[in-house]
Amino acid sequence: MSFPIKQQVLNDILAKRDLTDVSRTTIRQCAAIAAEMEKAAGEKFLRLEVGVPGLAPGQVGVDAQKAALDNGIASIYPAISGLPELKENASRFIKAFINVDINPECIIPTVGSMQAGMNLTLECSQLDPKKDTMLYINPGFAPHMMQAAVQGIKYEQFDIFSYRGEKLRDKLEEYCSKGNIVALVYSNPNNPTWVCLTDEELQIIGEMANKYDMIVLEDHAYMCMDFRTDKSVPFEPPFQPTVARYTDNYVFMISGSKIFSYAGERIAVVAFSNKLFNREYPALRERYNIGRMGDNFIFTYLYVASSGTSHSAQHALSAMMKAAADGTYKFVDEVREYGRRAKITKEIFLKYGFSIIYDKDGDNDLADGFYYTIGYHGMSDSELLNDLMLCGISAITLNTTGSKQPGIRACVSQLNSEWHIQALDERLKLFVELQKSKK
Ligand SMILES: Cc1ncc(COP(=O)(O)O)c(C=O)c1O
Repeated sequence: MSFPIKQQVLNDILAKRDLTDVSRTTIRQCAAIAAEMEKAAGEKFLRLEVGVPGLAPGQVGVDAQKAALDNGIASIYPAISGLPELKENASRFIKAFINVDINPECIIPTVGSMQAGMNLTLECSQLDPKKDTMLYINPGFAPHMMQAAVQGIKYEQFDIFSYRGEKLRDKLEEYCSKGNIVALVYSNPNNPTWVCLTDEELQIIGEMANKYDMIVLEDHAYMCMDFRTDKSVPFEPPFQPTVARYTDNYVFMISGSKIFSYAGERIAVVAFSNKLFNREYPALRERYNIGRMGDNFIFTYLYVASSGTSHSAQHALSAMMKAAADGTYKFVDEVREYGRRAKITKEIFLKYGFSIIYDKDGDNDLADGFYYTIGYHGMSDSELLNDLMLCGISAITLNTTGSKQPGIRACVSQLNSEWHIQALDERLKLFVELQKSKK
């Protein structure tokens, strides 16, 4: 069978999985459905759903990790607060690419940024009995909200689509003025839209954080990947934009997964501002007999979650951060490939009448990067994904990311050959024909 696949085939696959609507699936479910559809079609799908790095891992990391294992590190528990050399190198890396000073003691390795988010969410929810609610700027990384949901923590969220620039202030005011918001979460550049918050917006967020004593959890999974300006030279501007220029109430999550293509080793760091790391919270002291936010993160939450982070992966991250800050590992140049793929594939979508939904940062066109968002003449999420699937293209719908706009997120990491580019063109042409045949 070739494309378009018959609707009945998709319906049967959904029914077998007890699903009625393909747009309500999680990424992993969507990937499993695409795999079954591939079998039915006898042809490969274009996998735009899962954001796996499509590049080789940082070699300097692989070498350091192998050497650490050869040195017998596997038998030794790592310190929960992290390998001293990783903490030093991460501090220098943050200075080199974000231009922010964070003491090594305030930087802690975690099992991916996922573990960082999970434990920070839990810790934030226990800081102050009056502040029990997380706030998410959406569209966002769906697991962030799930982290609150699975831990029974209250959360609020809004779609930033209509609240860019100065309008963001009123929207944040609306939530923060209730007095119950403990922390705000977003990724920048953003998964799924690739929106990059402007300095004006980051300043507004920082001012709100100061005004309402709110913590900002800033997810830097894609740091330095807004390729509109060259952020590749360590210790030289332009630097990765951050809320840290406007408030001390911040925590960074910096994952090795995408910037260093090191997703398989599940390694990241959490970097608390020096002030927040040392801040005393009476509610924490009462509950755990430890008062400082940073100490609790390490000796309470991480201790019971995983008792630290893979020893050898810490050596890898440390080596990659050191080499990046030394200017010998040019990680930004390597990931620039995603921008190239986005530019080419966006043009194909546009040629067939699709549109980019989140398309501007201030007056500037969006950057080309790991993801972008696509709509088709107001078609609903569900119809759009359904028909793309019939034509051999899988993706995730925006409704799963907290967006109110109908459309899908395209991830370019797997579009890594000429065949993929050509197949995208052919299948989108088929998609348009399928729409015409329905009229
Ligand atoms: C915004 C964002 N944060 C965090 C992660 C996960 O990072 P990690 O692999 O370090 O858990 C991802 C991965 O897709 C992401 O997009």
